[in-house]
Amino acid sequence: MHTIDSDVKDISLADQGKDRIEWALNEMPVVRSLIKRFSQTKPLEGIRLSGCLHITTETANLGRVLIAGGADLVLCASNPLSTQDDVAAALVKYYNIPVFAVKGEDNSLYYQHINAALDHRPQLTMDDGADLVSEMHKKRPQMLPAMFGGTEETTTGVIRLRAMARDGALKFPIIAVNDAMTKHLFDNRYGTGQSTLDGIIRSTNILLAGKIFTVVGYGWCGRGIAMRAKGMGANVIITEVEPVRALEAIMEGYRVMPMLDAAAISDFIVTATGDKNVVDQPHYEVMKDGCILANSGHFNVEINIPALERMAIRKQKHRQYVDEYFLPTGRTIRLLAEGRLVNLAAAEGHPSAVMDMSFANQALCAVFIINNRKSLANDVLPVPLEIDQEIARTKLEAMQMHIDSLTEEQEKYLSSWQEGT
Ligand SMILES: NC(=O)c1ccc[n+]([C@@H]2O[C@H](COP(=O)([O-])OP(=O)(O)OC[C@H]3O[C@@H](n4cnc5c(N)ncnc54)[C@H](O)[C@@H]3O)[C@@H](O)[C@H]2O)c1
Repeated sequence: MHTIDSDVKDISLADQGKDRIEWALNEMPVVRSLIKRFSQTKPLEGIRLSGCLHITTETANLGRVLIAGGADLVLCASNPLSTQDDVAAALVKYYNIPVFAVKGEDNSLYYQHINAALDHRPQLTMDDGADLVSEMHKKRPQMLPAMFGGTEETTTGVIRLRAMARDGALKFPIIAVNDAMTKHLFDNRYGTGQSTLDGIIRSTNILLAGKIFTVVGYGWCGRGIAMRAKGMGANVIITEVEPVRALEAIMEGYRVMPMLDAAAISDFIVTATGDKNVVDQPHYEVMKDGCILANSGHFNVEINIPALERMAIRKQKHRQYVDEYFLPTGRTIRLLAEGRLVNLAAAEGHPSAVMDMSFANQALCAVFIINNRKSLANDVLPVPLEIDQEIARTKLEAMQMHIDSLTEEQEKYLSSWQEGT
């Protein structure tokens, strides 16, 4: 029995949440196979686990894997706007998982919830953005000796944790789930690609065909967003700071130019860099009237909102996730979802089929840490290749897709150097 309470918006939403969690599980065959396996083998029996993740239907199904494996689990939100309140209610009422997450919570409640998850005295953490790990290291270091390790879901979290490791500040091992091939090649690209457009369309209901659509950052997320915007008939521009990625974008058929040039002609600007102030005051000064700004990077710092607030003479909310800023020149700029992850705030986050693989990585890496806790270094570590391949194989089987295997002759040829022309 859990002794810790929960904090969710409205427990009466639990039935709706349960229906949606079950619906998501239909698209999560790898997670389904893990629920079955973990309930027999109990690889996490008695382990106290705190997860700081987006509270979505897919996370709920990850929660079901972890408790099937015997974990003593508590969840909190990894973003103030990404919580699905019905899912939070269902987790508490139907799955006996304490949850601390309310959509729209302010920063102070957000950190109270993170601390509630830490009050659980975890031995394992699961982070999406490294807030749990960084709060524990900064404010509650007395908890560090009990830790076996943690996992990290996203690019920005991995970057923060690598910085901690470089400074010698990281006091337990972290597995960089984001860096697994079965995570970022699918989740960041196809997941963020589809759900970012979903968030933009749900919040504005504006036609993309024929519009100029700038994607800031041509990383895994940026590639997916650009690909899907192009597919909907938008005229896509890429801005980058990294020359190889800029070149790749050009070869893919996109226009590439500096942000200042793109700002002057864009109807939409979407950031996915993990960086700060990539859309800033000089860009606002030249922006086209009515330009729509959205962010899909982890933190709400990619678009410089304080600068926009300072420049605007007035602000008006038009639709639930659309704030229109009126500039002294008479032009307006529209900001979606307060600059927070638009796909999670204004839509439902990634489709379940990609989270199936991301969260299978989370669950299998949690077990990997428990089984290897005596030998892992206090560093940011890769997901073992066997886990990546097991997930890809299970996913292919579930999709009833078959592939070839190497013949003996081919194996020999590929591992030798003697044969040539
Ligand atoms: N919305 C979601 O659900 C979701 C999902 C996965 C990842 N993320 C987040 O999205 C962000 C990007 O992730 P990724 O995996 O694509 O990272 P990535 O490292 O693959 O790509 C980021 C790209 O941004 C570029 N960049 C950095 N500063 C720039 C600038 N000033 N102007 C133009 N380009 C710039 C980098 O050169 C790089 O190519 C991260 O914050 C990550 O945590 C969000």
